[in-house]
Amino acid sequence: MNALAATSRNFKRAAKLLGLDSKLEKSLLIPFREIKALPFAKDDQFMTFERIILSKKLLHSTLTFLGIDVILEHSWIERSLFTDFLITLYGMKVECTIPKDDGTLASYVGFRVQHDNARGPMKGGIRYHHEVDPDEVNALAQLMTWKTAVANIPYGGAKGGIGCDPGELSISELERLTRVFTQKIHDLIGIHTDVPAPDMGTNPQLILTSKICSMAFTQTMAWILDEYSKFHGYSPAVVTGKPVDLGGSLGRDAATGRGVLFATQALLAECGKNITDQRFVIQGFGNVGSWAAQLICEAGGKVIAISDVTGAIKNNKGLDIPRLLKHSTAKRGIKGFDGGDAIDPKSLLTEDCDVLIPAALGGVINRENANDIKAKFIIEAANHPTDPEADEILAKKGVLILPDIFANSGGVTVSYFEWVQNIQGFMWDEEKVNSELKTYMTTGFKDLKDMCKTHNCDLRMGAFTLGVNRVARATVLRGWEA
Ligand SMILES: NC(=O)c1ccc[n+]([C@@H]2O[C@H](COP(=O)([O-])OP(=O)(O)OC[C@H]3O[C@@H](n4cnc5c(N)ncnc54)[C@H](O)[C@@H]3O)[C@@H](O)[C@H]2O)c1
Repeated sequence: MNALAATSRNFKRAAKLLGLDSKLEKSLLIPFREIKALPFAKDDQFMTFERIILSKKLLHSTLTFLGIDVILEHSWIERSLFTDFLITLYGMKVECTIPKDDGTLASYVGFRVQHDNARGPMKGGIRYHHEVDPDEVNALAQLMTWKTAVANIPYGGAKGGIGCDPGELSISELERLTRVFTQKIHDLIGIHTDVPAPDMGTNPQLILTSKICSMAFTQTMAWILDEYSKFHGYSPAVVTGKPVDLGGSLGRDAATGRGVLFATQALLAECGKNITDQRFVIQGFGNVGSWAAQLICEAGGKVIAISDVTGAIKNNKGLDIPRLLKHSTAKRGIKGFDGGDAIDPKSLLTEDCDVLIPAALGGVINRENANDIKAKFIIEAANHPTDPEADEILAKKGVLILPDIFANSGGVTVSYFEWVQNIQGFMWDEEKVNSELKTYMTTGFKDLKDMCKTHNCDLRMGAFTLGVNRVARATVLRGWEA
């Protein structure tokens, strides 16, 4: 089951548990802006997708007025009918053409999907990955709506990405690509409309690019801020995850990993356990995975195996994380680290451990490997790492899964703190950021557990019902429920 189908399924189950009426349920699923394939334009690359701004209220009242009960998935078929009622049409799939360092031209496809803004400006990362596709971006945008609501921050959901392999591009190529992408979407994002953030492949990082063979620093959010400011004036709050010198928040870099730590501690405490008794396995050693590993070690947990795109490494006595970090920065990956044994990356998820933290890609825990998973707890640091079929298998085995929309919400929560600081023109110290984050994560876990009790459901459904309920209430209060 793909990410979009799984997210929609979880939403529908949450809506059923909450007893939402069918109109409201349908209204909550309609993205604010959506990608739709237009069949008549298939031969024209630039027209294959369109950005359609669907004002929920306008569209719904129009449909009700016309007596049309259209399933949105098919709405593009009725395009001529809809055109009159759409506020605006924009190019949705943006084609970004840049000159490469060798003088040739290269084109990359970028997306931005905006799902819901009932609770505030839409919020979501921009990822650079060769597997970025519109379906996944759609699913992740919807997931952000529920996640910001679970975190109880005043945002909706959005997501974007560019289909490219950042490791194959030089720093100057990455900068040109980011600036061209920003030029194409600058009128769609904004401080009070849609606030992008870093995601996979766009986090600040030291990289040794294969093209220029030297160390350099990528700073995607700084480039977006700079390019956006050329059109709209200096606007630090338009993106989060910026360098501190440009209005970034102290503590943002570590925030998702730190949130994973707080979430893990809350779950373990609920089960009468302590982090110091637990053995951890982590998939992914980028921003989230490496911070989670460092902070778990600092808190006394033992990280016994880690993988990244270059390989996997295991040491039953516990990996030396600070040394692994140095190695990974210098060698662009964990492969070749001498502080453990190299293992098959495919077997990492089924290694014997107490807590498994997927912190890389979606769909990695599925029916192929779920039966072999030995962990008692899974903390979903990545987005959508567990397939619904695996969910069912793991539930039968008694494995507790802390879902992504809560477990990795530390990043978006500190992004919110960053936005607040930018709007106020005031900077918090790191201690305040971390202690506020702890408060949000601890309160969030309590709210989630309360929903589990109310609806007699598992942690994933507890998180979904919590998020969907908050968005539903905002939708009704704003008078948008059709
Ligand atoms: N960065 C954030 O603040 C944030 C917030 C919420 C959720 N997330 C999610 O967390 C996940 C990781 O994001 P990130 O920011 O750490 O990205 P990143 O680009 O910094 O790191 C990704 C890591 O995954 C590894 N990886 C890639 N393919 C792999 C594979 N096939 N097997 C094993 N490892 C692989 C990479 O080598 C790298 O170590 C993503 O799912 C992202 O959506 C990130």
